[in-house]
Amino acid sequence: MNFQPLTPELVSAFEQIVGHQHVLTAHGVEAEIYADYGRDHTEDLHFAPDVVLRPANAEEISQIVRLCYEHHIPVTPRGAGTGLSGGALPIHNGVVISTERLNKIIEIDERNLQATVEPGVINQVFQEAVQAKGLFYPPDPASKGSCTLGGNLAHSSGGPKAVKYGTTRDYVLNLQVVLPTGDLIWTAANTLKNSTGYNLTQLMVGSEGTLGIITKVVFRLLPYPQQNILMLVPFRQIEQAAEAVSAVFRAGIIPSGMEFMEREAIAWSSDYLQIPLTLPEDIHAHLLIELDGQDLDELYKEAEQVYDVLGHYDVGEVLLADNATQKDELWRIRRNIGNSVRYNSVYKEEDTVVPRAELPILLKGVKEIGARYGFKSVCYGHAGDGNLHVNIIRGDLNDEQWNVGLRQPISEIFELCVKLGGTISGEHGIGLVQKGYIGIALPEVNLDLMRGIKRVFDPAGILNPGKIF
Ligand code: MLT
Ligand code: ZN
Repeated sequence: MNFQPLTPELVSAFEQIVGHQHVLTAHGVEAEIYADYGRDHTEDLHFAPDVVLRPANAEEISQIVRLCYEHHIPVTPRGAGTGLSGGALPIHNGVVISTERLNKIIEIDERNLQATVEPGVINQVFQEAVQAKGLFYPPDPASKGSCTLGGNLAHSSGGPKAVKYGTTRDYVLNLQVVLPTGDLIWTAANTLKNSTGYNLTQLMVGSEGTLGIITKVVFRLLPYPQQNILMLVPFRQIEQAAEAVSAVFRAGIIPSGMEFMEREAIAWSSDYLQIPLTLPEDIHAHLLIELDGQDLDELYKEAEQVYDVLGHYDVGEVLLADNATQKDELWRIRRNIGNSVRYNSVYKEEDTVVPRAELPILLKGVKEIGARYGFKSVCYGHAGDGNLHVNIIRGDLNDEQWNVGLRQPISEIFELCVKLGGTISGEHGIGLVQKGYIGIALPEVNLDLMRGIKRVFDPAGILNPGKIF
């Protein structure tokens, strides 16, 4: 790619737009903070941007992008940097645009069950703001306490509640976007239905910041489910835990959470959080099952049905969380598995996804491939969605084994997903680290269509270059 270097004149122009204190460089007073913008939560990767800009609004972003378009400077948009596929890494240096100052909840429209927000709002802050009004925004990635809604949109993030409520893309009605030419558009209308031309909104969602920079979002909301039941179910055989998942759905129950954790995942996370948890020797996996709704009696009836299903498997003593603190602890353990794995070792995370009932075959295949190639994996994830996070642990693998040797087994894992009717990412995106594998999931014809779309939106190829394909 033929980008131009950043000139001092351009840096001065950026200072005029965002203000001196919001231009960060390697040599500025905030050099340490600047360095953080070169990494995200993907492995141990780091790329140095030439400059980090922290604009305050859509108009400033539009002016910055227009200048970059005219001068052929690469631009990498960034939320909170919690991504797991390297989507926010400035691999061609250039400009990083952080949306952290676009952090206003502009309106919660209780009449229409909608909210208009800026992309830099933290997911959990938004959830709590709408909950205070009796409303519900379900997408809840593990990093909800720190990830931003803009980053969630970039990958159509999911989380445990996706199994019942869908992912980020299912809540978006309309987006304000700065295009890679600097033009500012709204993609649709604030309506629940829209049959007016191509769906630019859904094209933007999941495009990983390669087609535009989202500057405002209109979300639809739901009434908040007031009741829930949470149970932690221990299994003696890992395959049986995976099999029980689809059996629960076949019994007519749609849980609001159906999470799988193999023994090491739950053990590492509870150790990491220093939350004591008894794990009998013969337990090899757990399901964390949540039921939610407005009527507790109804939920207990559903829980009975779940128990009936579990009766067909070799399970240990089920823990039914009986107060808010216990529920919160169990969810904290689940949400911190990624952090605990990161704390224990450098790792690669593969975000495999298959039709739900194929999960047992996927899990068995992952372990078999690991045994054949000599790597250890810690698996967990959104089992109800057939979405298994496979964490390959670096352990004692040398550079050659880690950087080159794992390509073949990872390809085999992805080929197995595709063979089972699945694909190579359910919610973490392709970004940088999975782009070498995208051909396993998508034929050249599909990729050419996507490249064509990219060219239409971004003729100069400046926006988040080097990602997806
Ligand atoms: C999760 O489900 O925990 C996340 O998608 C993955 C992570 O944070 O490692
Ligand atoms: Zn996840």
